[in-house]
Amino acid sequence: MTDLPAVREALAAAGLTGAGPFDRSGSARLTPRDDPDQSPEMLAGGDNSTAWRVRRPDGSAVVVKAFGKPGGLDSTAAPDDLFEVEAQGLAALRIPGGFVIPDVLAVTPHALVLQSLLPRPHDDVGFWERAGHALAATHGVTDSCFGWHRDGWLGSLRQENGWHEDGHAFYATHRILRYLKESPVDAALTAEDRAGLHRICQRLPQLIPPAPATITHGDLAPANVMATPDGRPALIDPAVSFTWPEVDLSMLYWVGLAWPGARVPDRFFDAYAERRPIADGWRDRAPLLHLRELLSLIAHGDQRRDFVADVRHIIRVFR
Ligand SMILES: Nc1ncnc2c1ncn2[C@@H]1O[C@H](COP(=O)(O)OP(=O)(O)O)[C@@H](O)[C@H]1O
Ligand SMILES: [Mg+2]
Repeated sequence: MTDLPAVREALAAAGLTGAGPFDRSGSARLTPRDDPDQSPEMLAGGDNSTAWRVRRPDGSAVVVKAFGKPGGLDSTAAPDDLFEVEAQGLAALRIPGGFVIPDVLAVTPHALVLQSLLPRPHDDVGFWERAGHALAATHGVTDSCFGWHRDGWLGSLRQENGWHEDGHAFYATHRILRYLKESPVDAALTAEDRAGLHRICQRLPQLIPPAPATITHGDLAPANVMATPDGRPALIDPAVSFTWPEVDLSMLYWVGLAWPGARVPDRFFDAYAERRPIADGWRDRAPLLHLRELLSLIAHGDQRRDFVADVRHIIRVFR
């Protein structure tokens, strides 16, 4: 179901009703004007949400993002504080030399109104070089502990961010073992799989070199990299915490291996490493750093790929 009341509520919160494509009376109806350019345009690409671009009479545009897929969930089922945390995550990623972060024009319990961006240019090497430099600058923001000041969301499940001094303990507890209690994960994994994951958690200090806790986007799939009209790299849809920088690198890298159409040019990783060295062997470790996302996808019931087979492969390699 396309949840137009949530969109209207969010536009009103942004002070944008009455002058856009919505009925001036503020009635419950969504009333596109005669000009078809001013109808909300549904945007492709979300995993848990639906976004619309809404054109303004002055030619500018905003994007409204509400929880739930078309034909799927109701936006009123949005987890508590989902968009409030997302807005805080976006604010935390506004870092000098980093990515463009869209202005947040309104936050409601059911939707977010954002500055409108453009899709990323897949093969523009200059763009990806700028993105590599921007991520390196982002990862320059560090903390003495792993975690964040509050729990957030990864998809529609809690991202646990309780502070830890030890990065390996943080990753084991809040990024791997945390998912074993989700019922789809419990149903999908055998006792042997679970034992393998526990063993990996014990061995993490040998498998992953120590690294500082840096701010991370936390859901850095290529689809969450966007562009400004003048070609600057931008980010949306974060799941922020302070953790190892390889968490972000591994996601961009792994997604490109799994779906070659989404592959990020090598220049991105080289440009990142020019500004911020990456410990040797990071490509080999990428599946392990991505394990948290694979478990999250299983927990969400995502069927795009056999993620359980991916997890079993990682267990075989690293246990
Ligand atoms: N500020 C924006 N400008 C342009 N498009 C956007 C913007 N925010 C989201 N989108 C579009 O909506 C899609 C879903 O938004 P996203 O925040 O990634 O939701 P999800 O949490 O469901 O992945 C994105 O892939 C992108 O195509
Ligand atoms: Mg997204």
